[in-house]
Amino acid sequence: IPNKKLLLLPGDGIGPEVMVEAHRVIDWLARTGRARFDLAEDLVGGASIDVHGKPITERVIERALEADAVLFGAVGGPQWDSQGFANRPEIAILELRRRLGLFANLRPAPVFDALVDASPLKPEIVRGLNLMIVREATGGIYFGEPRGIETLPDGSKRGVNTEVYTTPEIVRVARVAFELARKRAGRVMSVEKANVMESGLLWRQTVAALGKAEYPDIELSHMYADNCAMQLAKNPRQFDVIVTSNLFGDLLSDLASMLTGSLGMLPSATLGAPDASGRRHALYEPIHGSAPDIAGKGQANPLAQILSLAMLLRYSFDMHEDGALIEQAVAGVLASGMRTADILQPGTAKIGTRTMGDAVMRELDKLVG
Ligand code: NAD
Ligand code: IPM
Ligand code: MN
Repeated sequence: IPNKKLLLLPGDGIGPEVMVEAHRVIDWLARTGRARFDLAEDLVGGASIDVHGKPITERVIERALEADAVLFGAVGGPQWDSQGFANRPEIAILELRRRLGLFANLRPAPVFDALVDASPLKPEIVRGLNLMIVREATGGIYFGEPRGIETLPDGSKRGVNTEVYTTPEIVRVARVAFELARKRAGRVMSVEKANVMESGLLWRQTVAALGKAEYPDIELSHMYADNCAMQLAKNPRQFDVIVTSNLFGDLLSDLASMLTGSLGMLPSATLGAPDASGRRHALYEPIHGSAPDIAGKGQANPLAQILSLAMLLRYSFDMHEDGALIEQAVAGVLASGMRTADILQPGTAKIGTRTMGDAVMRELDKLVG
């Protein structure tokens, strides 16, 4: 078996801090003979702007295209806010999604037993929650044309973005949601605003037609995005798989993170379409950002980054046992009462990024005896 080619892109702020802890888990997998990796690391975001003058270089895109999987940290920070819009650090992740064709962003929100009372919602509302949000990631208002800021004849300005979806874009992401639902509880909730947006109406009609034609075994429902936000807070367990647009998925997944206790817990996988040989591009990243408010303080929760590595093993390499091992190690650490400061749970000890990484490593060693 050839070595697995991994590209690590730590980025900015807490990105490098949490990536170091995931890197230790990668080294552990290699050391214990579970997998052999060819590791490469490169700059993205503000870190790349500082060295190369732009948020991502063509060389990094090429390395990402060649890699079997990319593990991404986070990008952005106030020190790059004066960059022109096209040169913002955030362009790095958008360009990776676009150039690698990563249209399906899987954002699971499982509630760990030990964190049931860390959510601001009541324990009985979130206990046992196991939600999966499938966010479309290469279309919608993030990429639609026309866009820009223009100056009008009277000197005032006009900012424009356009929500666009084509039927092939909707079908391919809906298919991912239906296929996931088949291996889960068999339910898909398609979320849009078909009541006010034509692109939302097309979304609803297209998902309904696909469901009827190819997934009659899946229970498909539709919901407006505003109601979905409310329903996520009211009764999140009604959902199995949610499939939605780029922007709504961004908002709803940050909301869902607080059902699980903290934004610092949620990983994600962003997948492209498989080619003829079954190979597909894939990038894994926490859903959180670079957290400038705590960057450099050693306080960041590394678990979302470590759980993103677990998703990488599962989705890119079919290494389900090893993915499960990492998830069990995280569950074990949480069960032992360790918490980083982002997890609001009275009566638990607050530890830093490195100590949390140490605890995961110890738990991994314990699990494999
Ligand atoms: P953020 O996710 O960085 O932070 C939101 C809040 O959550 C902050 O209070 C932060 O301290 C906390 N937080 C986030 N991750 C944490 C972790 N692992 N451990 C502990 N606390 C954590 O969102 P923001 O503040 O709106 O954005 C900051 C920057 O990050 C911006 O430049 C934004 O564009 C960028 N961003 C990047 C990504 C990405 O790279 N994929 C994602 C989201 C935001
Ligand atoms: C995310 C982030 C990104 C997004 C930004 C940084 C471009 O918020 O990955 O959730 O909006 O997709
Ligand atoms: Mn986001």
